Amino acid sequence: MEISTVDVRYLKEKYGTPLYIYDVAHLKRNMEGYLKYFKSNEFETEVLFASKAFSVKEVLRIAKEEGMSLDVVSMGELYTALKVDFPKDRIYFHGNNKTIEELEYAISIGIGIIVVDNLMELYAIDEITKKLSKSIRILIRMNVGVEAHTHKFIVTSHVDSKFGVLYNSEDYKEMLEVIKKNPLIKFKGFHSHIGSQIFDLNAFKAALEKLLNITKEFDFPLVLNIGGGFAVHYTDEDKPIPFDIVSKTLIEVAEEALKKTNIKIEKLCIEPGRSIVAEAGYTLYTIGFMKKTPNKEYYFIDGGMTDNIRPALYQAKYDCDIVGKENEEKTEVVTIAGKCCESGDLIIEGARLPKAAIGDLLITYTTGAYGYSMSSNYNKALTPAVVFVEDGKDYLAVRRQTLDELIEREV
Ligand code: LLP
Repeated sequence: MEISTVDVRYLKEKYGTPLYIYDVAHLKRNMEGYLKYFKSNEFETEVLFASKAFSVKEVLRIAKEEGMSLDVVSMGELYTALKVDFPKDRIYFHGNNKTIEELEYAISIGIGIIVVDNLMELYAIDEITKKLSKSIRILIRMNVGVEAHTHKFIVTSHVDSKFGVLYNSEDYKEMLEVIKKNPLIKFKGFHSHIGSQIFDLNAFKAALEKLLNITKEFDFPLVLNIGGGFAVHYTDEDKPIPFDIVSKTLIEVAEEALKKTNIKIEKLCIEPGRSIVAEAGYTLYTIGFMKKTPNKEYYFIDGGMTDNIRPALYQAKYDCDIVGKENEEKTEVVTIAGKCCESGDLIIEGARLPKAAIGDLLITYTTGAYGYSMSSNYNKALTPAVVFVEDGKDYLAVRRQTLDELIEREV
């Protein structure tokens, strides 16, 4: 099996397993796709990469070069971005509980935009801007009342979300008052994010329409950021909407609204994370022991929930193959289990595979998002290496953690 014409067996020899592998051409195709189709003649557009999906310097460097902007949610993600000289004015700082230190730092370095989650945060920003005599551009994160969970969405629910403020709530009104009184706070518009791995385009349309409605009461052009959440293909059960359709539809909804009403938009933004990196990523494991129980057959791999927590946390499903046996008859129905002391440490249940032998390589697909970024050292597992492949060449983005690194902070 090859990824970008690089033999994965060679990657195993060179870097060991478990190993995260990214196909750079695929990453770039996704980034370029959004940048190409999310465009309008009526207003500016901006595509942000939600770095929580996969925040390592190399992918941020590629995003920067491709002309993407960035969503960060912590000092750590911001720090990583600054280490590759990501242009500060293209960074949006999110989060419901940014610390005072984070806010002071972001404002002092002149970060592009802070997406303000709540009234208390705005009061903190009010103080910091005055203390530092520094201005900052902000969006207000709205809870637009659209709750989306993969295939379903509900409008006017979810009033108790931990994210954002409700339109016309007391907090919302007070926020506008705070903004009016402080010329250092440059209010630019609104943000919303309704969920992740969402298949229903209507959910995004509904959210955008809610934001467009709010803009009616402002007499200057606003920036509207409708977040990310666009679904990807994990298994054949998933039929995601192609990014060109998502992009064009959202642009059309906004352009229609401009025609019909007298609202003004300066810029429309989206911030996909998963749909940029998920399908470009693979995880390679070595199969160790195998076991039959009365009702099940297990293949054990040398990683597990420490490199991919999603099956345990969300019952997420994945597809896999045994390297070199992709075309063999799939005679077995097996459970792929990791090596953690945890019964829930299962990567795939009911995987259809050929018979494996100890030492075979197992590859799981679509692991590029929220895999590495949610990895842990549970059972003192070492964080795997991350390798990028492009045009037949491989290069290391993150080297495997060592045993010494595992305990180096233990005093
Ligand atoms: N913007 C905001 C404000 C977000 O909170 C998120 C994701 C995104 C953008 C990007 O969403 P995406 O395009 O990646 O769906 N750990 C979970 C996903 C959590 C998503 C949190 N927010 C998972 O592994 O499925």
